[in-house]
Amino acid sequence: MSQAPTPQILCSQAGNPLIGTVRVPGDKSISHRALILGALAVGETEIDGLLEGDDVRRTAAAMEALGACVSRDGNNACGRWGGGRWRVQGVGIGGLMEAERVLDMGNSGTAARLLIGLVSCHPITTFFTGDSSLNKRPMARVTLPLERMGASFVGRKGGRLPLAVIGTDHPIPIEYRLPVASAQVKSAILLAGLNTPGVTTVIETHPTRDHSELMLRHFGAVLGIETLPGGAMAISLTGQPELTGRPVKVPADPSSAAFPAVAALLRAGSDLTLTAVGINPRRTGLYQTLREMGADLNFINERTEAGEPVADLHIRGSALKGVDVPPERSASMIDEYPVLAMAAACASGTTRMFGLAELRVKESDRLAMVADGLKACGVRLETGPESLFVYGNGKPPRGGALIATAMDHRIAMSFLVLGTVTTEAVLVDDGSFIDTSFPGFVALMNGLGAQITTP
Ligand code: S3P
Repeated sequence: MSQAPTPQILCSQAGNPLIGTVRVPGDKSISHRALILGALAVGETEIDGLLEGDDVRRTAAAMEALGACVSRDGNNACGRWGGGRWRVQGVGIGGLMEAERVLDMGNSGTAARLLIGLVSCHPITTFFTGDSSLNKRPMARVTLPLERMGASFVGRKGGRLPLAVIGTDHPIPIEYRLPVASAQVKSAILLAGLNTPGVTTVIETHPTRDHSELMLRHFGAVLGIETLPGGAMAISLTGQPELTGRPVKVPADPSSAAFPAVAALLRAGSDLTLTAVGINPRRTGLYQTLREMGADLNFINERTEAGEPVADLHIRGSALKGVDVPPERSASMIDEYPVLAMAAACASGTTRMFGLAELRVKESDRLAMVADGLKACGVRLETGPESLFVYGNGKPPRGGALIATAMDHRIAMSFLVLGTVTTEAVLVDDGSFIDTSFPGFVALMNGLGAQITTP
């Protein structure tokens, strides 16, 4: 099991309105996929703006262990679009080598699930582990379909990590209907399908983020996407394509942008621009919801960069009101509920969020962590197995609590955002995991006007 970083208590107290123009780090989902597909392509892939958080570094290290050559341009060089410029020399489909050591995926469910899929259909044996948060997360959701493709697994109860993946040398293409709305599961099967002869099909009833599909096409894979009677989508990948190394420009992560965006909305007088944020419609449920709550939040300079839609987000402090967030929206904002709950706690009226079952199996049980933390800050709420109702008073809650974060970066950042407006400071018990997705979060927030300190 990987070593956890040294815990770091952080304290957030009411600061100034958030004013400025900044770029948040690169998209985590796209960064993982760029490294993985770059490693499978023939030739060089140049990645501009790669997220350099711990989660993505784990994927970079794993791809090297599996035979690709991954390097960063210069020690301090910054890509043209912020973040790092990285290069990957791929091995070609089917060319992965057996790793000599255990692949440690740290805190990252995406890295673990995507790579388990990838190695399943190569004739190699791979050992995966993670930190104590990742080692609790369910992996059967990927191992069950991958077993049907011919791989076998030796793991802990529930298919949990540490896990050995015995890849097959005779992969079988499958048609698989996703039992949960999960882009990670969809992507694991598609990545397994890359080294599988014939057509591998994933059917999703609720659309999830489609970065794998967009990037597979960008690298030259043949992918069919069909709407079935009843509305489900069938994504079919023709196996054993020749992928060619391609340039990838990583947009700023809309899930990371959510934190300064909500902090700016909650503070009257804020005027914030977040540049080059990915606005793929499968990711923007939070922004739609915030607008319904009355947010002065606009996408400007909309454009397409390397196949992904991008815009600058302009946000001004706004009075928010409670709304209902329907379950069918949850896949497009699954990582944003914790920070939405902070906005709801300051809004006037009730915000009712439905379809939250998946929140229970993220880096922590996010539904429970959000509910416990908000209650400690003086917020009235109710939870169900898959729902959260937050009763807002139209003003920020009291705060004044030390919040347990359970190794979860988004829980830590969400409560630090709340602390920028509460009457009393909010402390989080461990901000060290923020680096997994948003390196430089505290400096970026403080540069805009927040007051987040180490007590
Ligand atoms: C991700 C998909 C989501 C999300 C995670 C990143 C991805 O998980 O929560 O942070 O990159 O595919 P699920 O697909 O399991 O919901």
